Amino acid sequence: MNITSIDIKKLYIETYGCQMNVSDSEVVSAILQKENYQITDKPEEADLILINTCSIRDNAEIRVKGRLENLRIHKKNNKNLKIGVLGCMAERIKDKILEDDPSVDLVVGPDAYRDLPKLLEVVSGGTKGVNTILSLEETYADISPVRLDENNVSAFVSIMRGCNNLCAYCVVPYTRGRERSRDPETILREVKELIQQGYKEVTLLGQNVNSYLWKEDNTDFPDLLEKVAMLSPVLRVRYSTSHPKDLSDKLIQVMSKYDTICKNVHLPIQSGSNNVLERMKRKYTRESYLQKISAIRKAMPEVSVSTDIITGFCGETEDDHLDTLNLMKEVGYDFAFMFKYSERPGTFAAKKYADDIPEETKTRRLNEIIELQNQLSLESKQKDIGEVFEVLIEGRSKKSSEELFGRTSQNKVVVFPKMHFKTGDYVQVKITDCSSATLKGSAIL
Ligand code: SAH
Ligand code: SF4
Ligand code: F3S
Repeated sequence: MNITSIDIKKLYIETYGCQMNVSDSEVVSAILQKENYQITDKPEEADLILINTCSIRDNAEIRVKGRLENLRIHKKNNKNLKIGVLGCMAERIKDKILEDDPSVDLVVGPDAYRDLPKLLEVVSGGTKGVNTILSLEETYADISPVRLDENNVSAFVSIMRGCNNLCAYCVVPYTRGRERSRDPETILREVKELIQQGYKEVTLLGQNVNSYLWKEDNTDFPDLLEKVAMLSPVLRVRYSTSHPKDLSDKLIQVMSKYDTICKNVHLPIQSGSNNVLERMKRKYTRESYLQKISAIRKAMPEVSVSTDIITGFCGETEDDHLDTLNLMKEVGYDFAFMFKYSERPGTFAAKKYADDIPEETKTRRLNEIIELQNQLSLESKQKDIGEVFEVLIEGRSKKSSEELFGRTSQNKVVVFPKMHFKTGDYVQVKITDCSSATLKGSAIL
């Protein structure tokens, strides 16, 4: 028998939460590939199952716990199977996860992935493995991630880790630790490799990209964005997420200067009420936010603007809620992620404020926000009818094999007849129809 075939083990990895977690799963896969693990998409054939988890809202954690219950049945058929919990929930709950669920063998926080090979050795001897130490320096800068998304068109590139903002409701600073920026040279190297592999789009990731700073040569986020944009005339560049308090004129200038920097700004408002914003410790006002939006639109009239909204935060009155609805209309968001406030243990809000908005009020307010956003999303797309957009093709439409889908620079999804086009092509599409979620059109030859 061939020795290498004995050594190769199979890794199944499932990812929850934000794009940072998707990017981290790629780092984990790279670390474990060096240890002779091969990626599989079938948990039943895995030797190691890893769940990369999210703690942002209570329901994110409940989902993971349910999923672990389903996955543990595979241990019946494979006595050697090990199960590990990674990511934010691992960091938040730590070794208590092992008490709650004895089928879990391994608990590893977001800054401890380099320790995985060692921990797996411990685990193979039948002991549990835990490392949830947060770091002030770790950025995994030297690790070339194994891309798990098979489309080979767009990739995430992590540019920093952690968050120093301490928004009152948010668990991220506790699960991801202090903010630290990654060496720009290693970021540019990673993007160059992606270009060589034929990728057409990168998204630069951080919890608050505007506070990116590489102190050795004072590279700030606009500098970094510009350096990435200069690498190729056919590489689209996106980034996420901007914090409204830190978005600078310099960033707006760099975005306007390069066609390849996508004309979408994701600027989470959270609430339209100054009272709520203050209690949330967001450090901007409704007025300063609206000023940033007009500066962005003035410099880039074609820009789309998207946001995150939390409804039912501690003490939110009906007037505060109306302020949010009004602000949404005033900005005319093209897209939004909308959530009910979920109290997270250990946060400032959990310690200092009562979670006093009844569940049914949170639900009603969320529904009103969603209904308004559906209307705004539809209006945003209706404006595009008759216009021509450059679309980067991401793959086949889920509904029809005769159609392809891709995105505009504004991050709107477009579906159109495939003709001779293929994934990764840029194509000019004339928009003829839309729903609130999708544009429809046909390619111009
Ligand atoms: N760093 C990003 C957001 C990361 S979390 C930023 O500051 O914009 C993504 C979104 O989840 C947040 O923008 C917020 O809208 C939502 N969120 C965070 N904590 C939450 C909580 N406790 N309850 C409900 N939604 C929350
Ligand atoms: Fe959380 Fe605020 Fe940091 Fe975003 S900026 S990750 S909402 S603490
Ligand atoms: Fe969730 Fe952690 Fe991201 S809490 S949203 S996976 S940073």
